[in-house]
Amino acid sequence: MCGVVGYIGNREVSGVLVDGLKRLEYRGYDSCGVAIIDEGQPKIFRSVGRIGTLEEKIRQTNPTNGSVKCGIGHTRWATHGRPSEINSHPHRDCTGRFYVAHNGIIENYLYLKHRLMAEGHVFATETDTEVLPHLIEAYYEGDLEGAVRRALEDVEGVYGIVVVSSEGDGRQIVAARNGPPLVVGMGSGENFVASDVPALLPYTRSVVFLQDGQIAVVSSDSVQIKNSQGECMRQPPETINWTAEMAEKEGYAHFMLKEIHEQPRAIRDTLRGRIGADDTVTVGRELGKADFLAGVERLQIVGMGTSLHAAQVGKFMIESLARVPVEVDNASEFRYRDPIITPKSLVIGISQSGETADTLAAMKEAREKGARLLSICNVVGSQAARQSDAVLYTHAGPEIGVASTKAFITQLTALYLLALELAQLRRTLPQHEIQRHVRELRDVPDQIRKILDGSQSIAQLAERFWQYSDFLYLGRGINCPIAMEGALKLKEISYIHAEGYAAGEMKHGPIALIDAEMPVVVLAPRDTVYRKTMGNVEEVKVRDGIVIAVATEGDCEIGQKADHTVYIPEAGSFVNPILTTIPLQLFAYHIAVLRECDVDKPRNLAKSVTVE
Ligand code: F6R
Repeated sequence: MCGVVGYIGNREVSGVLVDGLKRLEYRGYDSCGVAIIDEGQPKIFRSVGRIGTLEEKIRQTNPTNGSVKCGIGHTRWATHGRPSEINSHPHRDCTGRFYVAHNGIIENYLYLKHRLMAEGHVFATETDTEVLPHLIEAYYEGDLEGAVRRALEDVEGVYGIVVVSSEGDGRQIVAARNGPPLVVGMGSGENFVASDVPALLPYTRSVVFLQDGQIAVVSSDSVQIKNSQGECMRQPPETINWTAEMAEKEGYAHFMLKEIHEQPRAIRDTLRGRIGADDTVTVGRELGKADFLAGVERLQIVGMGTSLHAAQVGKFMIESLARVPVEVDNASEFRYRDPIITPKSLVIGISQSGETADTLAAMKEAREKGARLLSICNVVGSQAARQSDAVLYTHAGPEIGVASTKAFITQLTALYLLALELAQLRRTLPQHEIQRHVRELRDVPDQIRKILDGSQSIAQLAERFWQYSDFLYLGRGINCPIAMEGALKLKEISYIHAEGYAAGEMKHGPIALIDAEMPVVVLAPRDTVYRKTMGNVEEVKVRDGIVIAVATEGDCEIGQKADHTVYIPEAGSFVNPILTTIPLQLFAYHIAVLRECDVDKPRNLAKSVTVE
């Protein structure tokens, strides 16, 4: 939620800031702004809506003249104060000398605001953030870093901030983190700060991830990382292996479509190096601790949204293959229900971003109760990765579309690998069975490619259904979470009401909804619960419902019963949920396009939910 950027160097600063904001726009997109310090002169540009509007506003002036240029920018997902130009960041103090862009929430802002107002400060906005520049103004004694440090001592809440000032020579950015991520990009004669790596990719791949409590003091030729006591820390830069192209649309109409098409590649990358020549699984070695998984008696998986759906599929995989009991919780519920965790519990946090506030808090809660922590995560260096004992990275590459697609598919792949690793360790499956599963996994990229090659039929289906206003999605067993995921994809990008249910639930209520206006998407691959699912198809049909089935190639029976059938290649029962997901992603995508929705940036959403 919200993206911040900072730049100091010789480039045209507004261009770098706007470019960075465009690359972070998926983090929030209701308003945006930049503040530039040019030879000691502050200039601020803000606008409601998308970055393009801000860019146009800046283009109408000639923002910078000086040689070394410095500035900060922000793209907002509103929490305190409605989206408006005045509430857009960066925010400033009374004197116009201090500028702050902030991602997070200052929880005690009302108290601080009243205190500062009593001291004579004048507030211009409804935001929580505005207390920060005023506090910095109050504490400034010729040292920006010192003033920021003192201001943050007064603050309760979470923040990733970048601060610039026209005081001194104005050639410094101070960045601080407590919660929301911040990454410093190291250049030559220039340096960068951003909420997320994609903003930095065109300029540098050498980065330092700030840790909670750290402050970075950034000039054009130096970066000092300091701890909360102000002591300098030696933190060597890491090299990111993502490229700038990976964060571009590369000719696709939307990031979401590109990311759907990248799924075969993403799965290959997630499998790479994790399968031995003899078709065994080598994930355990990667996790770095021989006994990390061995003594586990109970697994608890937490996540939110799409990552929660991956967790629910993972439960089927792990319980069935490795015979370990698995509990799955919505992370925001887990942390408040006093869960039972023992030292033999392994808690797995699943998160694409690795920065979802609820998931991080659930992991922290589990740690405090003595659990070991594993994260399944897509972003190297993210908070989830850092707070875990071990990380199983999904190598999906940067996911920019707000609706998660390739990250989900790689999460399922990683969970399948983990289930097989546990099965190997616990000897719950004979070697030849493990090898059979591994071969099935290897086939998945080609099977997805086949579905994508036939995606025209799904686009046609979308043309038939884009004007309907309610959908039901049904699935059984391991495909039940996929029904939920399909419904989530449709509702979040097309704003159509859609519900996902366990097919067996239908008779217990949802069946009352069924009539000729209610399309029902039924996931019915040939598996052990196929017959039961067919029963649901019959029940929908006799009530005049419309059935759109996702079924296994060659299944003529369902072809005759359903109104429309989308086929997936024949596959094993743990691969089926990966394959059934693909038509649902495409269906939601095409419907959203036909309804002229902003597919990559759906209303009210943000890619990373870094506040509770
Ligand atoms: C839906 C979606 C969200 C995320 C959820 C968790 O398409 O993207 O539901 O899955 O906000 O995000 P991560 O995985 O980053 O923790």
